[in-house]
Amino acid sequence: MDIAEAINRRKSIRSFKPDPIPKKVIAEILTLACRAPSSVNQQPWEFAVVSGPLLEIIKQKNIENLSAGIASQRDYLVEDRPKDSVYRKRQVDLAVQLFQIMDINRDDREKRWDWLIRGFRYFDAPCAIFIFSDKCLSEAGSVLDIGAAMQNICLSALQFGLGTCIENQGIQYSNMLRDLIGIPESKRIAVSIAIGYPDWDFPANRIVTDRESIDTITIWKGFE
Ligand SMILES: Cc1cc2nc3c(=O)[nH]c(=O)nc-3n(C[C@H](O)[C@H](O)[C@H](O)COP(=O)(O)O)c2cc1C
Repeated sequence: MDIAEAINRRKSIRSFKPDPIPKKVIAEILTLACRAPSSVNQQPWEFAVVSGPLLEIIKQKNIENLSAGIASQRDYLVEDRPKDSVYRKRQVDLAVQLFQIMDINRDDREKRWDWLIRGFRYFDAPCAIFIFSDKCLSEAGSVLDIGAAMQNICLSALQFGLGTCIENQGIQYSNMLRDLIGIPESKRIAVSIAIGYPDWDFPANRIVTDRESIDTITIWKGFE
């Protein structure tokens, strides 16, 4: 698979087969992830790879916390997009696309809840990767580097037939994750990635999301 093919083929996968992933496959993916560039080669990323009974407990605790209305405990600030912005519009467009293909009516509270909690179950993936970094680095000082490693994980997963979904939802209860996984208090949890063998029969896995044309987002200088 060449680079363009991998980039074009990667997409968010929101339903997985239960088949476990061999540890050596994840180790190879993480080794590739660590080839990402980072500011002054600081390599701020650290990983927790969780599978098996502990992941099931985490899925259950996520849903319990969500059902109880417990406030987000995310270490990184995730802000809502301004109401009338193009960013909010893209968020809404994505939700419409997902709800349409999943046959979820806007007013169907039960189906919407079922959809919401899928994310808190890591879309039933057999494995979740958590990326964290040391709090001695600022959020801004590590987040770009972590993003590069995150993308490497998603791209290199493809060569093993694996799919991924990067998830903010999966780290909403970061204090709980810290306790159960044993991530030290001195670390800031940045993101989770659900990973597994895609269930291609699941409608949402057929979605290909839009991208803005580079014509509207690029300033060119010194070209014809
Ligand atoms: C930092 C980050 C957090 C994300 N969090 C979620 C999430 O919590 N739930 C979800 O379903 N998708 C999540 N996504 C996936 C995006 O919705 C997805 O990347 C975007 O819609 C583009 O679609 P694609 O990945 O299929 O190309 C996240 C992506 C990123 C980069």
